[in-house]
Amino acid sequence: MSGPYDLVVDSGCFHHLPPHRRVSYLALLDRVLAPGGHLALTSFAAGERGMGSERTDAELYRERELQGGLAHTPASLRWVFSDLVEVELRRMREEPPESALFGVPFLWTALFRRGAAASGDVRPVHDRA
Ligand SMILES: C[S@@+](CC[C@H](N)C(=O)[O-])C[C@H]1O[C@@H](n2cnc3c(N)ncnc32)[C@H](O)[C@@H]1O
Repeated sequence: MSGPYDLVVDSGCFHHLPPHRRVSYLALLDRVLAPGGHLALTSFAAGERGMGSERTDAELYRERELQGGLAHTPASLRWVFSDLVEVELRRMREEPPESALFGVPFLWTALFRRGAAASGDVRPVHDRA
């Protein structure tokens, strides 16, 4: 995968990554997402009508088990993707079974945008203090 791509879509992958894999995930995103490009993301949602494990990172490593996927909060997603600009972050709208559209209530759906500067001019998304 080389890119650059104007749109990267992650439909239900990110929440399956253990916390330490977010570093390589963000490095890949940094390599392939074009300046001004968008990341569209769906992720398990923590809380009421959510899905996924709400264990702390320490508990996950102690138990060595991802519990099928990790629930995120808006704050945890904003922290992970803090070098991108948030365009929208909300619960997915539920669609009835007969709908031609996909819509389940236990996911966040988010759109982030990368700053428009040339990629060599911006701090890599994974390079945080
Ligand atoms: C909930 S399914 C979503 C499938 C599909 N993207 C969709 O939207 O219907 C999660 C997907 O993430 C993939 N996945 C899990 N861990 C992954 C990883 N480390 N790298 C790449 N894909 C992964 C799984 O193989 C699975 O297909």
